[in-house]
Amino acid sequence: MSESLPKANLASSTGGLPSAVGWAQLMMQDRLRPGDAVVDATAGNGHDTLFLARLVGEAGRVWAFDVQAAAVQESRRRLDEAGVHNATVIHAGHETMSTHVPVAFHGRLSGIMFNLGYLPGSDKSVITRTETTITALISAVEILAPGGLLTLAVYPGHSGGADELRAITEWASALSPSGCEVQVIRPINRSASPPECWIVWKRD
Ligand SMILES: C[S@@+](CC[C@H](N)C(=O)[O-])C[C@H]1O[C@@H](n2cnc3c(N)ncnc32)[C@H](O)[C@@H]1O
Repeated sequence: MSESLPKANLASSTGGLPSAVGWAQLMMQDRLRPGDAVVDATAGNGHDTLFLARLVGEAGRVWAFDVQAAAVQESRRRLDEAGVHNATVIHAGHETMSTHVPVAFHGRLSGIMFNLGYLPGSDKSVITRTETTITALISAVEILAPGGLLTLAVYPGHSGGADELRAITEWASALSPSGCEVQVIRPINRSASPPECWIVWKRD
C-alpha cells in the first residue's frame, strides 16, 4: 500500500468548488487517522472505498456495502489492483450494516460515507431507496463513534431523489442537537436540484 495519504478528489464539472463527493472526501481526509475503522455504505465502483482504505492505512479497517454484484466485483478489483487489503466489500444493503460490522466495532467507527443514487455507467434502475437509506442512517449513527463523522452525497435530481432528500431532511432535523451536529453544503445558483453534501458529526 502506498505510504502517502490520498487527497480528496476536488475535481468539479462546473467550476472551482468541490462536488458533493469532493466535500465529503475533504471532511474524511481532515478527520480520519491511520488505524481508524470506517464504512463505505455505497461501494459502487470502489473509488470511495479505496480512498477510505488508503486514509486509514494498513492498521485500519473498511467495510463497504453494495447491493449490485457488478459493483462489488468492480470495487474488489479496484482494491486488488491497488494492493489494498484492509477493506471488505460486502454484497448486501447498507441497511444491514450493523449485522455485518463486528459488534466489537460498534461505537468505534470514525467515519461512514454514503454516496447515494445509482452506479455511474450502469443500470439506473438500481438506485438507493428512501426506506433503506433511512434505516441505514439510523443504524449508522448508532454504530458511529462519539466524535465520528457521517457524510452523505445526495442527488435530488434523479427519479426518487427528491423523496429521498425529503426523508433525509426529516430524519436529520429530528436528530437531537445534543447528540449530533448536522450541516449541508448545497449549490445555490445552479440547476433546480443540484447534488448536496450532508455532514453529520456525532458529538463526543
Ligand atoms: C453513486 S453510486 C456509489 C459510488 C461509489 N461510492 C464509488 O466511489 O464509485 C451508488 C451505489 O449505491 C448502491 N446501492 C443502492 N442501494 C443500496 C443499498 N441498499 N445498500 C448499499 N448500496 C446500495 C448502488 O448499487 C450504487 O452502486
